[in-house]
Amino acid sequence: MKKFLSIAMLIALLAVMMPASMVNAQGGEDYTVQADDWLSKLADKFYGDVNAYWAIMSATNQANADDPSYVKITNPDVVEVGSKLRIPSSDEAVAFMADFSPEDAQIEKLFASGAEGQLLAGNWWTSTGEFAAINAVYDIYRQEYPEVELIHAGLAGGGGVNFKGANLNKLIAGDPFDVFQLHVGLEAELYSPEEFLRPLDDILAETGALDVMPPDLTDLLKIRGNSYTVPMNIHRGNVMWTNTRLLEQAGVEVPTTFEEFFAVCDQLQSQGIVPLGMGIADGFELAHTFEVVLAGTVGAENTKGLFNGTVSWTDPGVTEALENYGKVLDCTNEDRSAGNWVQGIALVINDQAAFSIMGDWAYGEVIGFDATDYVTWNSPPGNQGQFFLVSDGFAIPKEAPNPENARRFIEIITRKDAQEAFNKLKGSICARTDCDYSDFGPGSAYFQGSADDFATNAIIPMVTHGSGAIPSWQDQFYQIATQFASDRDVASAQAALVLAAEDAGYPQQ
Ligand code: GAL
Repeated sequence: MKKFLSIAMLIALLAVMMPASMVNAQGGEDYTVQADDWLSKLADKFYGDVNAYWAIMSATNQANADDPSYVKITNPDVVEVGSKLRIPSSDEAVAFMADFSPEDAQIEKLFASGAEGQLLAGNWWTSTGEFAAINAVYDIYRQEYPEVELIHAGLAGGGGVNFKGANLNKLIAGDPFDVFQLHVGLEAELYSPEEFLRPLDDILAETGALDVMPPDLTDLLKIRGNSYTVPMNIHRGNVMWTNTRLLEQAGVEVPTTFEEFFAVCDQLQSQGIVPLGMGIADGFELAHTFEVVLAGTVGAENTKGLFNGTVSWTDPGVTEALENYGKVLDCTNEDRSAGNWVQGIALVINDQAAFSIMGDWAYGEVIGFDATDYVTWNSPPGNQGQFFLVSDGFAIPKEAPNPENARRFIEIITRKDAQEAFNKLKGSICARTDCDYSDFGPGSAYFQGSADDFATNAIIPMVTHGSGAIPSWQDQFYQIATQFASDRDVASAQAALVLAAEDAGYPQQ
């Protein structure tokens, strides 16, 4: 061991002593990670370019494919002391970097291809709960197809705010992922499905998945006769997460109406407690909150009516909803711009806020941080009996580089075992109706309750999460909700909502 260490140290010492270009002109070398090393620091040392750490990651992963004594780097920020790296020569590093753009999510270049190729899985699941959940599916895939190099291409940004544009660019450029995440419903329109996506009706039929999915979900799958999305879950978009410890301490009850909510908000604020934990930095959270407040104010049928042209956005209920939305925002933490939805629920988990209104992906964080015994759930004000449907699925691009591996992935996500493994960590219920929630760990009661509610509540496909409106309308909805949060101008927000509906093809009176 000592000998090994001293050789490693000698190599490291040589690397420090020799000018980087000389060391590397000889065709690269091995390097053992020392305390206080990190990849960009090494890239700076060897190439004078902090960004060239991608070249080291790629070369090391390629080396690992032939010789497992090299470490496999899946996250460039985490490389353990003692790991063996392959440091490519300067020429190799320069050539790699000339061809590589992290912004274009060319992540596949960072990994070797397995004997049966790669599976590039594009998605935006990067938070604690989100990653744990999708990783449970990867585990199944890796176990069943060990020869495939499965690559998690996770691009942070809740609701897919960053992922969707990057993914569209890749599709247009003819450089797509093998499978990518999208919401069930109209979101597929964003990707010009007839041009870029493969219909997946055969997989849905062959696996029997269609027979075990609820009609509220299957109704959303077809776009001009074809299904491009295979669902794996049903999230509930409208939940008010509640810190029972803080409520007890403050001596307040869970409010059910807006009137009660605003009274509780005053009481909590007077005791120095943040009533509603919120983070808005991902860009979807304000629209999300407005949509939940809208339904809580005008009811489920009117909410659906506003998005299908049967109720006008000039309705006084919309005015009232905007007023309620403004008052709800006044109950949030002042630094809400600094964080995203993860920080919003973290305030509840960390006893810093009494409530947070967020979809049940937030329960994935509650589970991930072991907070299920004091963080519980309630309906947001006025939302009783309403269930905002948010469903995640995957699609296969027509030009997927590894289409067979992609099909295998889609087949797996239709399965009961995969959906159970995924959803018990994600906070959602299965897209199938035959999952057994009694075995969903400490969160079992939540999942069973959500499944029961889904079966009995009014189901509203959520616009903020791609199911209830075409993408351009969804965009305008985001913008209006965001603008309102800063100017609080009810009349102009309502006028903009009217125009957005007209743009989407629904004339308003
Ligand atoms: C939603 C998605 C969820 C969750 C959330 C936050 O749009 O359906 O799975 O990931 O965004 O990122």
